[in-house]
Amino acid sequence: MVNTTSAAGLLGVVLLARHGDRLGYYQDPTTYNSNQSYITPLGSVQEHQLGSFLRETYLNPSSPSYIEGINTDVVDVDQLFVRADSGGGNVVLDSAYGLLQGLYPPTRSSAITLANGSTVTGPLGGYQYVPVDSVEMTQIPSLTSWMDCNYFIFHLNRVYQSASYLQMAETAGPFLNAVTPYLGSGISNNFTNMWNIYDYINVQSIHNKTFYEALPPTFLEQARYYANFVQQAVFSDSVSNSVGNIGIRTLLPEIMWSLGNMTEGSNKVKLALTQVDYKPFIGLFNVTNATLTDPDISGIANYASVVALELSQDAAGEASVSMKFKNGTDDKEFRQLALFGNTSIPLNTFVKNLAWITINSTNEWCFSCNQTTLRGCSVYNFSNDPFINGVTR
Ligand SMILES: *[C@@H]1O[C@H](CO)[C@@H](O)[C@H](O)[C@H]1NC(C)=O
Ligand SMILES: *[C@@H]1O[C@H](CO)[C@@H](O)[C@H](O)[C@H]1NC(C)=O
Ligand SMILES: *[C@@H]1O[C@H](CO)[C@@H](O)[C@H](O)[C@H]1NC(C)=O
Ligand SMILES: *[C@@H]1O[C@H](CO)[C@@H](O)[C@H](O)[C@H]1NC(C)=O
Ligand SMILES: *[C@@H]1O[C@H](CO)[C@@H](O)[C@H](O)[C@H]1NC(C)=O
Ligand SMILES: *[C@@H]1O[C@H](CO)[C@@H](O)[C@H](O)[C@H]1NC(C)=O
Ligand SMILES: *[C@@H]1O[C@H](CO)[C@@H](O)[C@H](O)[C@H]1NC(C)=O
Ligand SMILES: *[C@@H]1O[C@H](CO)[C@@H](O)[C@H](O)[C@H]1NC(C)=O
Ligand SMILES: *[C@@H]1O[C@H](CO)[C@@H](O)[C@H](O)[C@H]1NC(C)=O
Ligand SMILES: *[C@@H]1O[C@H](CO)[C@@H](O)[C@H](O)[C@H]1NC(C)=O
Ligand SMILES: *[C@@H]1O[C@H](CO)[C@@H](O)[C@H](O)[C@H]1NC(C)=O
Ligand SMILES: *[C@@H]1O[C@H](CO)[C@@H](O)[C@H](O)[C@H]1NC(C)=O
Repeated sequence: MVNTTSAAGLLGVVLLARHGDRLGYYQDPTTYNSNQSYITPLGSVQEHQLGSFLRETYLNPSSPSYIEGINTDVVDVDQLFVRADSGGGNVVLDSAYGLLQGLYPPTRSSAITLANGSTVTGPLGGYQYVPVDSVEMTQIPSLTSWMDCNYFIFHLNRVYQSASYLQMAETAGPFLNAVTPYLGSGISNNFTNMWNIYDYINVQSIHNKTFYEALPPTFLEQARYYANFVQQAVFSDSVSNSVGNIGIRTLLPEIMWSLGNMTEGSNKVKLALTQVDYKPFIGLFNVTNATLTDPDISGIANYASVVALELSQDAAGEASVSMKFKNGTDDKEFRQLALFGNTSIPLNTFVKNLAWITINSTNEWCFSCNQTTLRGCSVYNFSNDPFINGVTR
C-alpha cells in the first residue's frame, strides 16, 4: 500500500467545505428548491477556525501533510482554485471568504513597494484577497444540481414511497407529534418536511434563548437523527450513477481534473477548494463506499465540515489519493476515511471507479435531469432526443 503522506509532502489537496452557522434555511420538500440564507458571526468564526486548521495541516512545513512548495504566509493566488455557490443570502460564498481569512491571515509581509519607493501594506494589517469563483445558480448547474431537476423530483417521490422511509416515518410519529408545539406556525410536521423541522430546531436552539430553554432534552438529537436519515435517503442512491447522487456527480469532474492537473509539473494549483452545502458530502461518502467502512458518516455533515482528498506520490512516481473528514468544529482532528475499502488508492483507480458516474457539462446535466428550458438548457435542442422524449424504453 502507498504511504499516504510520503516524506516529500503532498502534491496537493482538493477540499470540499461546508458553510458555517447561518440563519434559517427552508427547502421545499417536494423539489428541494431553496434560497441561500445569511451567515452569522458564529458562522464566520467557525469558517475562520477551519481555515486555521487547514493552514496548520497543509501550509506548515513541519506538518506531515505539508503541501510541497505551497506559499506559507503570503498567498500566491495561482496556487489556489476556489469556487463557491453564490446566490440568495450568500452564506456559502461568505463562508469561503471566512475560511480563506484563516488559511492566509493578514500579514505585514503582504506589502508592495511603489515606483516612488514607498512601501504599502494592505488594510487590516495586510489582509490578503484571494479570488473566489462565485458560481451563480442560473449560470452553471454544477454546485446546485438537484434544483430544477425533473428526475430528482421523481427520485424524491420514490424515496417518500420506499419501505424503509415509510417505516422510519412511522417510528418518528410520536416524536413529530411531541415536537409540534415547539415548531413555528406554518411548519408542517409531515416526515417529508424533516429537514425543515430539524433546521428550525437547530437554528432556534443556537440563537433563541427562550426556545433553547423551553425545548425538552433530546429533542434536538432526535430531530437530527431523523433528518440524517431523510437526507441520506434523498442525497444518495442505490446505484452510483442515479439521480439521487446528482449533488456529487456534478462536482466529481472538477475534483478529478484538479487532482489530475496536480500531477503535472507545469501545473501551479496546489489547493482546490469548493465551498458547498451538506449534500455533496452525503453523495461522496456513498459513491466512494466510505460509508461501508464507517457507517456513522452517512448523515448530514456539521457546519464548517471539510473533506480532503489528499494527493501524494510514491518513490516510483505513482500518484495516490487519500480521503479525510472533519465533522465541523467539534472534531479537532481529521479522521481517515476509506476509498473503496482502502486508506489510499492510485489516482487512476479513483478516476476509473468514478468516471462513469460524472456529469461533466451543462448539456449532460440537462439530459440527466430532463430539463430542456431552465439553467441554460434552452440553448440545446433536445427535441430529437430519443431518451428525453420517451422514444426508447
Ligand atoms: C426563492 O426566492 C425567490 C425570489 O425571491 C422566490 O420566488 C422563490 O419562491 C424562493 N424559493 C424558495 C424555495 O424559497
Ligand atoms: C508615493 O506614491 C503613493 C501613491 O501614489 C503616495 O500615496 C505617496 O504619498 C507617495 N510617496 C512619496 C514619498 O511621494
Ligand atoms: C405528507 O406529505 C406527503 C407528500 O407531500 C403526502 O403524500 C402525505 O399524505 C403527507 N402526510 C400527511 C400525514 O399529511
Ligand atoms: C424564540 O422562541 C420562542 C419560543 O419558541 C418564540 O416564541 C419566538 O418567536 C422565537 N423568536 C424568534 C426571533 O424566532
Ligand atoms: C486539467 O483540468 C482541465 C480542466 O480545467 C481538464 O480538461 C484536464 O483534463 C485536466 N487534466 C488532467 C490531467 O486531469
Ligand atoms: C448508498 O446509498 C444508497 C441509498 O441510500 C444505499 O442503498 C447504499 O447502500 C449506499 N451505499 C453505500 C456504499 O453506503
Ligand atoms: C456529524 O456529527 C453529527 C453529530 O454532531 C452527526 O449527527 C452527523 O451524522 C455527523 N455527520 C457525518 C457526516 O459524520
Ligand atoms: C462498493 O461496494 C459495493 C457493495 O456495496 C460493491 O459491489 C462495489 O464493488 C464496491 N465498489 C468498489 C469500486 O469497490
Ligand atoms: C482495496 O481493498 C480491496 C479489499 O478491501 C482490494 O480488493 C483492492 O484491491 C484494494 N485496492 C484498490 C486500489 O482498490
Ligand atoms: C467526464 O470527466 C471525467 C473526468 O475527467 C472523465 O474521466 C470522463 O471520461 C468524462 N466523461 C465524458 C462523457 O466526457
Ligand atoms: C430542434 O430540432 C428539431 C428537429 O431537428 C427542429 O424541428 C426544431 O426546429 C429545432 N428547434 C430549435 C429551437 O432549433
Ligand atoms: C421529459 O420531460 C418531458 C416533458 O418536458 C416529457 O414529455 C418526457 O416524457 C420526459 N422524459 C422522460 C424520459 O421522463
